[in-house]
Amino acid sequence: MISVAGIGADGWPGLPESSRQVVHAAEVLMGSARQLAMVPGGAAERVEWPSPLMAALPGLLERYQGKRVCVLASGDPMFFGIGGTLIRMLGPERVHVLPHPSSVSLACARLGWALQDTTVLSVVGRPAEVIRLEVNPGARFLVLSADGGSPARIAALLTSWGFGSARVRVLADLGGQEEQIFSCTASELDTDMPALNIVAVECGEGPAMARVPGLPDESYAHDGQLTKREVRAMTLAALGPVPGELLWDVGAGSGSIGIEWSRAHRSCQAIAIESHPERLTRIAANAAALGVPGLRVVAGRAPAALDGLPAPDAIFIGGGVTREGVLDACWSALRPGGRLVANAVTMESEAAVFAGYQRLGGELTRIAISRATPVGTFTGWKTMMPVTQWSVKK
Ligand SMILES: C[S@@+](CC[C@H](N)C(=O)[O-])C[C@H]1O[C@@H](n2cnc3c(N)ncnc32)[C@H](O)[C@@H]1O
Repeated sequence: MISVAGIGADGWPGLPESSRQVVHAAEVLMGSARQLAMVPGGAAERVEWPSPLMAALPGLLERYQGKRVCVLASGDPMFFGIGGTLIRMLGPERVHVLPHPSSVSLACARLGWALQDTTVLSVVGRPAEVIRLEVNPGARFLVLSADGGSPARIAALLTSWGFGSARVRVLADLGGQEEQIFSCTASELDTDMPALNIVAVECGEGPAMARVPGLPDESYAHDGQLTKREVRAMTLAALGPVPGELLWDVGAGSGSIGIEWSRAHRSCQAIAIESHPERLTRIAANAAALGVPGLRVVAGRAPAALDGLPAPDAIFIGGGVTREGVLDACWSALRPGGRLVANAVTMESEAAVFAGYQRLGGELTRIAISRATPVGTFTGWKTMMPVTQWSVKK
């Protein structure tokens, strides 16, 4: 049995008696140098976390197997903490967790925000652009910082998205003697903060961005290779993202389908497969700008580029359906119960899609969109190229 005791910035004096007893009884104490320094000396062997920790952890656990080990963790060990990692590795029956108030509980207490109404994001080990999904007029949320530079990075992004007047509070060293709260607008914040901090953002006024698929075409940088808004919304509806699912966006163009799939839920993942070098950079830039910087971009042509990719729950073929082997490779990689959607605009791709429909079934839909545009001083319909959409479940 391993114990994991949460400890706050108030250190040993703030630790409840139950946790102190577990620390005292331990034969081995593990933690960061900062956490170990908070615990008064005793007989226990002290093991400072090596860096990087994850690779070394299994070896460490093995070495001290059979000993009474107490791991020190910051705040609540089950909140973005080592507690969750240890339970994943050892199972819940072998890990005893002693929670402490998390930094987020402390932040909510200082701000007067109800915890259950507070969205919490983390930029620890992730690009700060992940906050984009939550930025909207009137929205507010907390961000766990990676370091003292995170608040300025977050503020610069808010300003670049038209939220320079957002109220930003940086809550540093919560619970400790050095605790401080800095308050300013996003456009004013450009300096480093103490390393241990949480950022509270109140967006205030700025441009809105809907969460449902069908973002305006202008949301994307593109060279014309973009699934247009109305067709995109219908395509995402046919793909039907479910939390935790993985999409392959084959022939991703500007990346819009994979991006809107990833925006459906934080746990949705997408891989964009694209052969055109310029488009690869554009996909990554669009993904970051629209709040899903974790979108994976794979360079190369299907079907060869699909080799070795993790099996998807859904596949969108926006390009390459006429190419020998693409449809077969996609169909065989798709998980049972998964969805495949292909959009065809040319006669050739329509023929490939129709052959697929005859062989595998599913549904064929023809999407014909017209947009009203000025014709001199009058208004007329401009018809976009019709799209044949094939959607099939495996
Ligand atoms: C990996 S998470 C761990 C959270 C921790 N398990 C908890 O419950 O507070 C680390 C994040 O919490 C923040 N953090 C931890 N202790 C803090 C404190 N006392 N004051 C402000 N932020 C803190 C760090 O800046 C970082 O963003």
